[in-house]
Amino acid sequence: MFKENLNVKKIREDFPILKRIINGNNIIYLDNAATSQTPLQVINAISNYYKTTNANIHRGVHFLSQEATDLYEKTREKIRAHINARKSEEIILTSGTTHSINLVANGFESILKKGDELIVSELEHHANIVPWQMLSEKTGALLRVLPMKKDGTLNLDSYKSVLNNRTKVVFVNHVSNALGIINPVKEIIRLAHKFDAAVLIDGAQATPHLITNVTDLDADFYTTSAHKICGPTGIGMLYGKEEWLKKLPPYQGGGEMIDQVTFEKTTYADIPHKFEAGTPNIAGAVGFGAAIDYINKIGFDFIESHEKDLLKNATDQLRKITGMKIYGDIENKVPVISFNVDKVHHYDLGTILDKMGIAVRTGQHCCQPIMDFYGINGTVRASFAFYNTHREVDMFVNGVKKAVKMLL
Ligand code: ALA
Repeated sequence: MFKENLNVKKIREDFPILKRIINGNNIIYLDNAATSQTPLQVINAISNYYKTTNANIHRGVHFLSQEATDLYEKTREKIRAHINARKSEEIILTSGTTHSINLVANGFESILKKGDELIVSELEHHANIVPWQMLSEKTGALLRVLPMKKDGTLNLDSYKSVLNNRTKVVFVNHVSNALGIINPVKEIIRLAHKFDAAVLIDGAQATPHLITNVTDLDADFYTTSAHKICGPTGIGMLYGKEEWLKKLPPYQGGGEMIDQVTFEKTTYADIPHKFEAGTPNIAGAVGFGAAIDYINKIGFDFIESHEKDLLKNATDQLRKITGMKIYGDIENKVPVISFNVDKVHHYDLGTILDKMGIAVRTGQHCCQPIMDFYGINGTVRASFAFYNTHREVDMFVNGVKKAVKMLL
């Protein structure tokens, strides 16, 4: 039996949304992989920014502009420290993971030539497939696949056989959003570097659950979105090694990314500003910084141990349901459970859970290749966060049992 963790009761007071009543029931929010909830500390930081500091950054000599610039740049430094990057110039603020991946893929257009190769894992979110496919179409570079195995892990033997001297970029997620499996990215990077290929790690689903250390991983690029780690939507980050960011051309043209502009020729600012054209999401950056402070205050020791318990509790109980099939049911994962129940449509199950106030995601989770691999058209996905409780796990499992009874 899992005992309720008393810290969680206190933590939940930071999240007013968790008190909402949905369809007559107290909400049980298990869609954290889609977006996490936002604590008062982050909401207040954004609100205070608009109340006291709102101004454009890097532009004015006036006090508010400088204060806003300081806050924005402080977030860059907080991200750097949080992911253990060497220099704050290696951190680009973007609108989120999708923007970050498109920025890098777009940049490689000027580097790749016909005959070069790219490697994508079969576990990727569409956001880490489509931009590279577009790049492949534009450059003639061949898109090759690092396949998955039945248990949801990546087939590293096949990876070794597709890697070669023509491989230029490998892109893989740190954690699969659909299955929750933690991928051996350090090893994937090590192998790619033997062929001087760059590696981009999509960390959107890892950063909420694990400590990230881009220097230890030796990642060339690493990206995440603030809203996955209790921050606001519309802001995220791209880490890139200095030498790569200097090599890539700008993604968008506009104000603040330039050095000199004449009608004959424009020269660009140095990194990171070269990649931050126009007025950025300043309030979002303030919220992102507050979110990093918040999760570090909660602490990853606590997050990892509590989430491990939640995952074990939920998995053990779900496994007992007749007809239950959990995809990627292995030890090495974050608290994400993707499942189907025999003869039950995932959408129907999710809809009935919603009537009970239980929020899960259903469908393909933007990962059609994984669904095709398993020969299914979707799953129910329950994804937990450190503010979820064992009581919620029990109510969710009971909800699944009740819904299945109704549907069969
Ligand atoms: N990528 C997010 C998810 O997995 C939206 O739900």
